[in-house]
Amino acid sequence: MSEMVEKARNYEIEESMKIAQDNRPVYHFSNPVGWMNDPNGFSDYKGEHHLFFQYYPYATHWDSMHWGHAKSADFIKWEYLPVALAPDKDYDNFGVFSGSAIEDGEKQILIYTGVEEKAAPNGEKCIRQNQCIAIGNGVEYEKIANNPVVTADMLPEGSSLEDFRDPKVWKENGKYYMVAGSRHGDGSGQIALFCAENPEKWEFAGILDRSENKIGRMWECPDFYPLDGKQVLMISPQEMEAEGLEFHNGNNTAFLIGNYDKEMLKFMREKVQCVDYGLDFYAPQTMETEDGRRILIGWMQSWDNPMYPDTQRYSGMMTIPRELSIKGGRICQMPVRELEKYRSNVISYDNVCIHEETELEGISGRSIDLQIALKGNEYGKFKIKLAADEKHYSEIIYDRDEKTLTFDRTHSGFKKDTISTRSMYVSDKKDVINLRILVDRFSVEIFVNDGEQVMTSLIYTPVDAYGIRFASNGKTYLDVIKYDIEVK
Ligand code: FRU
Repeated sequence: MSEMVEKARNYEIEESMKIAQDNRPVYHFSNPVGWMNDPNGFSDYKGEHHLFFQYYPYATHWDSMHWGHAKSADFIKWEYLPVALAPDKDYDNFGVFSGSAIEDGEKQILIYTGVEEKAAPNGEKCIRQNQCIAIGNGVEYEKIANNPVVTADMLPEGSSLEDFRDPKVWKENGKYYMVAGSRHGDGSGQIALFCAENPEKWEFAGILDRSENKIGRMWECPDFYPLDGKQVLMISPQEMEAEGLEFHNGNNTAFLIGNYDKEMLKFMREKVQCVDYGLDFYAPQTMETEDGRRILIGWMQSWDNPMYPDTQRYSGMMTIPRELSIKGGRICQMPVRELEKYRSNVISYDNVCIHEETELEGISGRSIDLQIALKGNEYGKFKIKLAADEKHYSEIIYDRDEKTLTFDRTHSGFKKDTISTRSMYVSDKKDVINLRILVDRFSVEIFVNDGEQVMTSLIYTPVDAYGIRFASNGKTYLDVIKYDIEVK
């Protein structure tokens, strides 16, 4: 084990013990200590779910990237494992960036981007990004001797040598495939495909799709998987310009849905769908479970507005893992079914008429799974205030006339000038709007109409603000089911 790995492991054990459980989410993954960004290596190994993550244990800001590590039997209860990788080689001296993992016989293979800072021929410093491998047993990993295994000079001419990262690898019919984010000569994103008979020897196999400066610039963190008869290329584009309410400025995430010709290794894109409409979501990655479910997890934070209190010793959380499916041509996302095991104290109401601001007895909490059906056509706006006390609340507003759903955390109690509100259009084809709302102390995830759309945002409201209030400017008829979520 290198000194850097050992130092990080000792540090995270000592420091994470100082963070009280009350300062963490109840059923979402949070990093032991320091900074976390993208999920990495989300995959099964020896029958358990592994999650690695971009990690800088020593401070709550981004710096020299390591890979943190955890595992779980059910996606909800996570066990920390020691730091897996540190930037301890010349070829990754600037950071061990995002990547993936696969189970390969007895071994677990990690495929990551090694970022090297070195002197260019003109003497100036330059950055090079290449793909590297480490092999291990689920806890200890060894970087192989002939790293990097995929270099940027294997890309088509004109591609950036600096922006080439985030390999996602899978195995199919005895062959290995890799997609990685890259920048075309026109400066915008492209996704490169590589194949290999042996994971240490790769060949360039083509460009699967590219932005042509239409869907943002650089495309980060690609993932490529079949789903319900279609093929999905999932990307995290940088520098997007807002498009109505569909995409916002800056870093976004998109499903490119289409078909894949496996013989010709060609992807034909048919449509683009926003992955998440909330304030804090980026860099999702998926895995397939043994029973065939495609599960997505995302980083619950955003680059331009990273949001966490100055006093907090860890920077963030991951979303609830979500099951993906395609319904009516749209990718739908719902919380993993394993969450249901952790439900207790059910309270439900049928057909309550809401007009003035109302609380419903027993409907409250900061670690809850709340399901709401909004019915009727005698109202214009319906509002739910969550995490509420005398002073604080975060609001979900459904505007029936505008067909928009808005999340507004202006009064959540966070005293910084971060973006606080975001809206999206919701389907107007339905008489009933279904909301499933997961509140976990510092986050709110809203799954609309059985997961057709999702909105994920953080709230840093004092945890004793747990009230929930409903209001409508006409008459809204409401069915409500609330469960507490407890993880022991
Ligand atoms: C996405 C990203 C990746 C990169 C990593 C660095 O959030 O920028 O492209 O590998 O973060 O931490």
